[in-house]
Amino acid sequence: MKATPNVLTQEQTAFLVRRRVAHLATADEAGRPHGVPVCFACAPAAIYIALDEKPKDVPVSHLKRVRNILENPNVALVADRYAEDWSLLAFVMVRGHAELLDPETEEHGAAVRLLRGKYHQYETMRIEENPVIAIRPEKAASWGALDEPESSEPQVLDTIHGRRSVRRYLPKEVKEGVVEQVLEAARWAPSPHGRQPWRFAVIRNGETKERLADAMGEEWRTNLQMDGQDVGVVEKRLEGSRRRLLDAPVLVLLCLYLEDLDVYPDAGRQRGETTMAVQSLGAAAQNALLTAYDLGLDAGWMCAPLFCPEKVVEALGLDPTLVPHALLTLGYAEGDPPKRRPRRPLDELVVYRD
Ligand SMILES: Cc1cc2nc3c(=O)[nH]c(=O)nc-3n(C[C@H](O)[C@H](O)[C@H](O)COP(=O)(O)O)c2cc1C
Repeated sequence: MKATPNVLTQEQTAFLVRRRVAHLATADEAGRPHGVPVCFACAPAAIYIALDEKPKDVPVSHLKRVRNILENPNVALVADRYAEDWSLLAFVMVRGHAELLDPETEEHGAAVRLLRGKYHQYETMRIEENPVIAIRPEKAASWGALDEPESSEPQVLDTIHGRRSVRRYLPKEVKEGVVEQVLEAARWAPSPHGRQPWRFAVIRNGETKERLADAMGEEWRTNLQMDGQDVGVVEKRLEGSRRRLLDAPVLVLLCLYLEDLDVYPDAGRQRGETTMAVQSLGAAAQNALLTAYDLGLDAGWMCAPLFCPEKVVEALGLDPTLVPHALLTLGYAEGDPPKRRPRRPLDELVVYRD
């Protein structure tokens, strides 16, 4: 599954992965062109397009794009950014061979998961019953400001729906200014008494990441062995977690800092004070994740520091008053994440009491 990285540059991949809509051009046997807007998801070796549910009288095999692909598999897909500020204009065009994935195949299942992860609207549509179009990229071309930050007028709910946990990144540099904006968002999180009971450590250096991975890995190995996990499984999970840390271009460690909080004579109120600080750290993390997404970055959350805070403090040479809680990975997604957990509907989560 390694075709796309060879065909698309990192900038092109990062740009394409973040588009919500593209245009698919197909042609029939005689070369007569046809174009439609499409939702799509990216994997390292393919770009996937669902065939939505249709009224019964239009089977998907009658769709013009499907008939064209069967007659002539050469296709092009173009995704662009338009803005009134023309210094932000950009597009990527991918040419390749298209095929229709049979619903029985493993790749079809993986493609449907990718598409549902990217577009929550697909969760309630029976796209798994139809073939999925897979484009195998052969050539890519692009133009314009691919690397510019995304829209300056984001809709908050769109950002919330779009954000997802990413666990594999392109080896593409993340500019310092962008990381600073992510931290700026975290700084503005609500906090108990406005005391901001958190501090952040930013890690980019490979050796520092390795020290951190070693420290956390040691603790995790002990815990997994204590759980009686198979040696092979333990090593595989540790290796996966280590790779996540080393491959992410930037790590942001969120630490609790409790020194400025109120002190109470009773344990109950003191616990409440600490809980508020933890809640606030979660708010800072979410601010950071949403801002990262708005800026065209992706992010992931790792809870590992929570289970060995002292080791993390030691490995990074941090002030001992800091309590590491969460690690955010930041970078540009290699592709759309393979799975994303669907959400429970609101009526399972909410009760109304008049
Ligand atoms: C407190 C917390 C801890 C998490 N820890 C991890 C973790 O250690 N590893 C991981 O891969 N994801 C971790 N996640 C991410 C969740 O798995 C992810 O948010 C969830 O599956 C929903 O997927 P989405 O973020 O793509 O919507 C954590 C999330 C939270 C809020």
